[in-house]
Amino acid sequence: VTLVASLRDIVGETHVLVDPDLRAPYETDWTRRFTGTARCVVRPASTDEVAAVVRVCAAAGAPIVVQGGNTGLVNGGVPASGSEVLLSLARLRDLEPVDVLEAQVTAGAGVTLEALQAHARAAGLDFGVDLAARSAATVGGLVATNAGGVRVLRYGSMRHQVTGLEAVLADGTVISRLTGLAKDNTGYDLTQLLAGSEGTLGIITRVRLRLVPPLPARAVALIGLSSTGDALSVLARARRLPGLAAAEVCYASGVSLVRTYAGLGAPFSEDFPVYLLVELAGGSDPTDELLEFLGGCEEIGDATVASDAAGRTKLWAYREAHTEAISAAGVPVKLDVSVPLAALADLVAELPTTVEKVAPGARTILFGHLNEGNLHVNILDAGASGVELTDAVLNLVAGYRGSISSEHGVGRAKARWLALSRTPAEIAAMRRIKAALDPNGLLNPGVLLIDAE
Ligand code: FAD
Ligand code: MLT
Ligand code: ZN
Repeated sequence: VTLVASLRDIVGETHVLVDPDLRAPYETDWTRRFTGTARCVVRPASTDEVAAVVRVCAAAGAPIVVQGGNTGLVNGGVPASGSEVLLSLARLRDLEPVDVLEAQVTAGAGVTLEALQAHARAAGLDFGVDLAARSAATVGGLVATNAGGVRVLRYGSMRHQVTGLEAVLADGTVISRLTGLAKDNTGYDLTQLLAGSEGTLGIITRVRLRLVPPLPARAVALIGLSSTGDALSVLARARRLPGLAAAEVCYASGVSLVRTYAGLGAPFSEDFPVYLLVELAGGSDPTDELLEFLGGCEEIGDATVASDAAGRTKLWAYREAHTEAISAAGVPVKLDVSVPLAALADLVAELPTTVEKVAPGARTILFGHLNEGNLHVNILDAGASGVELTDAVLNLVAGYRGSISSEHGVGRAKARWLALSRTPAEIAAMRRIKAALDPNGLLNPGVLLIDAE
């Protein structure tokens, strides 16, 4: 019996895709930079089916690439070797009723962030993570990458929302911890071990998630500034505002791309080098508090404020549409780094020169989550310099004791640079964990940990 026939016995004929046209949407990543060929795409609909698929693949020695919404940005969820079975979790879409008493919900790995948010809101609660890929990114992918997004300063990243999960390990065993106890110190926290493990230790099938109180009243300011240093001064003061809900930074080059892509007018009568988006949220209208705050910041060149939903969405678009606008302009070399805030302005100043030295004429577009010192470094028109650029930028970041992956994960795209952010002892410990849980290297080979070169 062939592997494909065994997989069809488990999930049904129509959910094992071998035709190249049917496989294609799963085989190329969102940025179009990473592409590969899968042996087949298999689409199970339950945890039991996932476990059976894993057992069959393990018996055949077929490596598995795990995929949720395929919005990941670090080459972790598409095939690389041609021998992998691509396991899509998109059909695990069960969304249990919200447990209002615990303010928690259990969601299948394939539930999209948008569906989860709508479900929580319908129950009078909200979800603490938000990001622009919400319509496609899945709960499983968000946990596996420990995604961040635009609410981290208030609620933390994805792992902080997770109170338990269910997962299939590389030998097909199922671990399940979905009670969601608020306190539970009974040994190793396997849930948190799997969060951020990028599909290398287990396949997440269901997740128990914490929900947060809704904050219906919001006010957003888009602020024009002269420098990153000024943006940091405004942030330092904004931290004292109890309602601070977001602090996002972008720059003239990105805003110009976004305006062309999204057809947006200029936010101000003059252009600024730096733009800071600040949002306050609470139970009652925070507009006056925001206006008073802005009035007290002498660094501010200009500012525009919106409190109504349409106006807020418009201001957010200057920041949120960056990813799409950049990808519409080309296939970027996309890096995601963080440094201590005290070093951020220096990093921003040095990046264009660093890029120019390696790839003359390339365009560097920076934006990100200011509160976490998290800068998205996107380089367009890099030609064939992707590896050299990555090396130069990540070494620069390491020099500031920063992280080579702030929120997107390491994937295959950054695996060879892991040692810039983690010590040999840490990497050795990670390898021992991987070897214990996946001794045959079945799950996401080449992601996060690669054989020493
Ligand atoms: P995929 O892309 O399918 O997979 C991502 C990784 O997780 C892969 O390594 C995959 O093997 C693994 N994986 C997926 N599902 C599972 C599972 N069930 N079990 C085990 N492993 C699994 N990221 C941020 O952190 N912050 C942002 O603000 C942000 N904004 C984005 C905006 C846009 C427009 C886009 C395109 C992406 C953005 N991302 C952001 C990146 C991406 O959305 C996140 O990394 C997201 O968590 C990926 O979810 P996914 O379901 O698409 O996962
Ligand atoms: C964002 O913050 O918009 C994302 O992380 C996506 C990106 O880096 O392009
Ligand atoms: Zn981001």
